Amino acid sequence: MSWKIPLFKTYWDETDIESVTNVIKSGSYWATGPEIKEFEEKIAEYVGTKYAVTFNSGTSALHALLLAYDLKQGDEVIVPSFTFITTANAPLFVGAKPVFAEIEDRTYGLDPEDVKKRITPKTKAIIPIHYGGCPCLIRELKEIAEDHNLLLIEDAAESLGTKINDNKVGTFGDSAMFSFCQNKVISTGEGGAITTDSKEIYEKLKLIRSHGRLETQDYFSSTEYMDYVTLGYNFRMPTMNAALGLSQLKKIDKVIKMRRDKAEYMTKKLSRIKEITLPTAPPDYFHVYQMYTIRIDGTRQIRDRLIQYLGDKGISTKVYFEPVHLSYFYKNKFGFKGGDLPVTERIADQVLTFHTHPLLKNEEIDYISEEIDKFFSEAI
Ligand SMILES: Cc1ncc(COP(=O)(O)O)c(C=O)c1O
Repeated sequence: MSWKIPLFKTYWDETDIESVTNVIKSGSYWATGPEIKEFEEKIAEYVGTKYAVTFNSGTSALHALLLAYDLKQGDEVIVPSFTFITTANAPLFVGAKPVFAEIEDRTYGLDPEDVKKRITPKTKAIIPIHYGGCPCLIRELKEIAEDHNLLLIEDAAESLGTKINDNKVGTFGDSAMFSFCQNKVISTGEGGAITTDSKEIYEKLKLIRSHGRLETQDYFSSTEYMDYVTLGYNFRMPTMNAALGLSQLKKIDKVIKMRRDKAEYMTKKLSRIKEITLPTAPPDYFHVYQMYTIRIDGTRQIRDRLIQYLGDKGISTKVYFEPVHLSYFYKNKFGFKGGDLPVTERIADQVLTFHTHPLLKNEEIDYISEEIDKFFSEAI
């Protein structure tokens, strides 16, 4: 279907093309070029950590990170169910068990009080997400992690540039993961990164990402044998993506401003509609609006009818997220039946997401708000 208003568009300009073209035209180092290290240094500098390591997706980044922390069978990891499935799958990748905790209804991140209740002697880590560009209650979660001697790993896939006061997400936990998939704050098509202050984790991640190989020089251009010292994968980000990441990162302040301007306009237009709850963030929170998620007060049926109604008008919307614990795989594996996480399930029944991406036009926002208004005044 061709939408009048698609879910999102990826922002790019001529410098992105130039950046990627330069790598292609070099005719070498497409896999392990210098742009990768340069991109890593720039990410670390931007986020405010000592180190960053790139990966070919946020998912492989989180997988590698849990291996680097040696999480394994018998360990429990507290995660939200209101997230993209990777957050819960990552513990399973390494044989550990994801334990779901509830979210709170302001930032849609993990509810610290509920997290406390889920801690057992087997708990090793907490992986909160910063939902859609809004920091979660990460300071409170950090306190809990410290009190219980747990790892705090931020799933910041959706939230590069998000901050509380001057502290960017990615600097609160022991390590953090970012995604550069096509609908994220900035994009390399596919891609991800881990940021951390730990040299030990940084070194381990580099090994895990590239076959466990001790790379003293560039593997492809060197004739030397390099030893394989641990089990590893090929989770590397290609050089073209890193080059794209470098040119995208140069624009991040502009892109975030555009996203915030769109969100502000959206809020202005939608605030008159009393049947919906708009996104808000605590006053010292800087929301970058990777997503603009509203809540329809009432039942799932009304929300679903609104999706259908807007769809008929050419406006694409999506539910971010249906709870992970109610996916076929998790129901089947863990026996969830519904009713297991009432707060999460209630919120997931009510949410509806638009992407306030930089290319969204004010006229399009006008059209969206008019149609939502019509739905509530005429269609139901
Ligand atoms: C919260 C969250 N975690 C993890 C991921 C996985 O990132 P990727 O798609 O780069 O593997 C995503 C991206 O969709 C996400 O939104």
